[in-house]
Amino acid sequence: MASNQTADIESILNEGRKFPPSREFSSRAWIKSLAEYEEMCRRAEQDPEGFWAECAKEISWFKPFDKVLEWNFPFAKWFLGAEVNAAYNCLDRHLSGPRRNKAAIIWEGEPGDSRVLTYQMLADEVGRCANALKSLGVETGDRVAIYLPLVPEAAIAMLACARIGAIHSVVFAGFSAEALAERIDDAEAKLVITADGGWRRGQVVELKRNVDEALKRATTVRKCLVLKRVGSKVEMRRGRDFWWDEVVPQQSPKCEPARVDSEHPLYTLYTSGTTGRPKGVLHTTGGYLVHTISTMRWVFDLKEDDIYWCTADIGWVTGHSYTVYGPLAAGATVVMYEGAPNFPENDRFWQIIEKYRVSIFYTAPTAIRTFIKWGDSWVKKHDLSSLRLLGTVGEPINPEAWVWYNRMIGGERCPIVDTWWQTETGGIMISPVPGAIATKPGSATRPLPGISAEVVTREGKPVGPNQGGFLVVKRPWPGMLRTIFRDPERYKQAYFSQIDGMYFTGDGARRDEDGYFWVMGRVDDVINVSGHRLSTMEVESALVSHPTVAEAAVVGRPDELKGQGIMAFVTLESGRKGDERLKDELRQHVVKEIGALARPDEIRFSDALPKTRSGKIMRRLLRQIASGDKTLGDVTTLEDLSVLSRLREDEE
Ligand code: WTA
Repeated sequence: MASNQTADIESILNEGRKFPPSREFSSRAWIKSLAEYEEMCRRAEQDPEGFWAECAKEISWFKPFDKVLEWNFPFAKWFLGAEVNAAYNCLDRHLSGPRRNKAAIIWEGEPGDSRVLTYQMLADEVGRCANALKSLGVETGDRVAIYLPLVPEAAIAMLACARIGAIHSVVFAGFSAEALAERIDDAEAKLVITADGGWRRGQVVELKRNVDEALKRATTVRKCLVLKRVGSKVEMRRGRDFWWDEVVPQQSPKCEPARVDSEHPLYTLYTSGTTGRPKGVLHTTGGYLVHTISTMRWVFDLKEDDIYWCTADIGWVTGHSYTVYGPLAAGATVVMYEGAPNFPENDRFWQIIEKYRVSIFYTAPTAIRTFIKWGDSWVKKHDLSSLRLLGTVGEPINPEAWVWYNRMIGGERCPIVDTWWQTETGGIMISPVPGAIATKPGSATRPLPGISAEVVTREGKPVGPNQGGFLVVKRPWPGMLRTIFRDPERYKQAYFSQIDGMYFTGDGARRDEDGYFWVMGRVDDVINVSGHRLSTMEVESALVSHPTVAEAAVVGRPDELKGQGIMAFVTLESGRKGDERLKDELRQHVVKEIGALARPDEIRFSDALPKTRSGKIMRRLLRQIASGDKTLGDVTTLEDLSVLSRLREDEE
């Protein structure tokens, strides 16, 4: 384990506080006690397939499965032989009862406009959009790229794809044209759904313009469906580009759901790994639905009258599993907010909670740390008494932020579910079950029933209490990724080759004496900036693609607000002089290549990078330099020791 993690282990070790759920919360919860939770775990342990088959009853199947699991290491198939449709599960099946006129989506736009779509209205919109996609030539199995702001149409587009068996690939609207083109190319998407633009802190983000740019390179796209959101002027290419308004509303709301196989791909979502090229994580239908709907109940304790708000953008897996598929399959009322938390002012989130009486609120630690910085007065202006449960996701939460969240937002009455999971896992894996498990600030507590998470050595041996190790999952679970799109070798390589016979998460963790998991962050070259995964290699390749750059090494460094910040060490082509202007230019270049989320916080020029004799960049050393550690460890394998002193001199 990298030495910079030892500090985290120790600081978190001092955290001894424990917060049991109130008797009131537990008595009304789906899972009411530790004994009940442990009994579920025991059942799942003894008969995993029987356990998941039981969970699968929450889903409506057109044709039942005849086998629960086929595990052909490391490839899994779940609920074999079954026919199912994700959109049917999220919509149609709610229409025959009282949920028909229940709000499915309560949406608030950044400028203050709002819309409410009942389940019936949402189903009709999805039907129209599905028919429109068909009319534009989309067929079962085709890939559709979605590049939209957080508007109801984002969910509508996803569900419309699912309805006809097309595979969506949502690309976060903060990604650049380059990043979009790369993802469209890899997926070989036939159609792109976008908007003229999106709102971000009162400014327009020119989405259509980015698409135009991307389509100069990405050649598989035949048609482009464009939603009018901001009213800005865009170019529409005849025969390729169609306004949503002119194609969708005229369609019939009725569209038969495709009866797809349980293992039919539902979506790909690109995420960062340890190389420069993002990987298309592939999720399929049946198992994914079972996992996401089960966790809505176990983790969010969802009840019929809850108002549920997950603040994640639809461009991330959290938006897929816990804004769209999980909650809608469970028949929840979902709040969606388009914009920034500080528009027009710092209390926008609290205003929304008060306005819609949100009862379950799920956000990221990086957001919580920002709210703390903005000050309590913004929170105190609002009545947050509707809240009954809080959640976090995306990165470890520091105990101070946890305690503030509990006190200021939860009024010390709401359990906090610190949910650990990944794009690859599809759904939540380790999290408190809020009515059953006493929480400890900073710990995701225990694995959910049926999830065989463990902390092990590189050899796969379990480590003792409070010893650091690698976080793995031993048995397959229904929501797990099935492969990397068109790259099964990379799937094996990335997840099943480091530790024999197990799924390796890429995270380091320890378990304390109560069996609670403390996830410490990545042990590979992936960094976590504001809860968003980035590979250091991606940022490096972006830098190196600039004509002045000869070589670059990128590392994460601790950042009070963002969790991790990005620091780049750059060697220039000979004869080039590094100055502030070039730094700005390089930052801009990374934004253009990847997107604003990858903008380096600091760039340091150096005439060489520290390398081992075999030519590998010594990242550990750079990480230590980046975090300001003066007591550098063993550097005897350095190719050129003077490089180190030069890098450090620059610091003074
Ligand atoms: C980190 C987001 C600590 C972890 C759903 C993981 C967390 C990566 C937590 C996945 C948590 C996520 N505590 N770390 N509760 N949740 N992580 O794919 O490093 O965007 O591997 O999925 O985020 O990020 P991803």
